[in-house]
Amino acid sequence: MGRKYRIGVIKGDGIGPEIMDVTLDIINSLGLNLELIEIGAGYEFYKKTGKLVEDGILDIIKNLDAVIKGPLTTPIGRGTFRSINLYLRQELDLYINVRPFRSFKNISLKKFNLVIIRENTEDLYVGIEGRYRDTAYSLKIISKRASERIIRYAFNYAIKRGFTKITVIHKANIMKETDGLFREVFFNIAKSFNNLEVGEMIVDAAAYNLVKNPEKFEVLVTPNLYGDILADLVAGLVGSLGLCGSAQIGDNIAIFEPIHGSAPDIAGKGIANPIGEIIAAKLMFEYIGDKYHDESLIRLANIIDNAISIVIEQKRILTPDLGGNAKTKDVGNEILNTIEMLLSENIAFNGIQHVNE
Ligand code: NAI
Ligand code: MG
Repeated sequence: MGRKYRIGVIKGDGIGPEIMDVTLDIINSLGLNLELIEIGAGYEFYKKTGKLVEDGILDIIKNLDAVIKGPLTTPIGRGTFRSINLYLRQELDLYINVRPFRSFKNISLKKFNLVIIRENTEDLYVGIEGRYRDTAYSLKIISKRASERIIRYAFNYAIKRGFTKITVIHKANIMKETDGLFREVFFNIAKSFNNLEVGEMIVDAAAYNLVKNPEKFEVLVTPNLYGDILADLVAGLVGSLGLCGSAQIGDNIAIFEPIHGSAPDIAGKGIANPIGEIIAAKLMFEYIGDKYHDESLIRLANIIDNAISIVIEQKRILTPDLGGNAKTKDVGNEILNTIEMLLSENIAFNGIQHVNE
């Protein structure tokens, strides 16, 4: 039996616990050698305990192999608490945000397979804001170091996953220093990757072209804010925010989550789409599999992906965001059944053993 992986679980706010329970049911049914450790954080946790996060949360997370997390509510406006998401990203230096998007047949608006790789620690998200009399301001910070590490990651990611094209997104025609630096770093790094087609696009044109011709994009690398916005735009093309997951990765630890928020408008109704959270689990298995050279986890990640396609494209078990009337649990159960079916076929045809290798 191989290594026992230690996984942190932050259930989150709003629809978080609903989609996480379904996802954990799947994870727990796979017979993997995992220990799940629940970690307290979020608005609900705050209401109960008066604390935004559990004491010592950073040290707890640093000692884990990965964390799977649900969405956390962040109040809007002055005087309210700062985003816990931002706190975790910045304190754990999760500088990479990877958001893979692919279309689903008869669900998505267009056919495509692209990845947004977003810088995750600086830009306007550093939170250096203020007011002077009736004027508010915010500082946009782009460093060479942070740009280099995210752009280098994006190039390596493109090569490793067999993509042929990478595009940097910016607005360097207006923000000549900040976005100008990001762009400059991109073209410098590009010199050592001759086997990739490199391109650039101004962010507003990128929004337009992503809607018109998403199939023309492969890997996009962006500063923090543009990646955030374009990701939701592409999620709209996929068909729902509830169909997309993301990985936030640092040098030693990574946190996996759906790209959507806590969806207070549908929380507690049992109708949230759990697929974004299940995709987060899939991305987590891929990450751990890569890190510890555990082929069985990589294979499992592929199987989860196939199961999701089968359930929504063929069986059409769809939650209301996709026009159906299935419940969160229906989708979860069907995905689990399909994963089990695919695993048993896999074992039958290839003699592959997926559990506790
Ligand atoms: P949201 O993503 O929660 O919701 C936007 C719309 O999409 C809503 O109509 C919602 O019902 C729908 N939606 C989202 N996820 C869905 C799912 N899985 N199934 C079906 N429908 C889904 O964005 P909103 O309303 O702007 O934010 C709500 C809260 O979430 C805020 O406090 C925000 O700060 C937080 N948030 C947290 C994130 C995180 O933890 N990573 C990311 C984005 C927002
Ligand atoms: Mg966002």
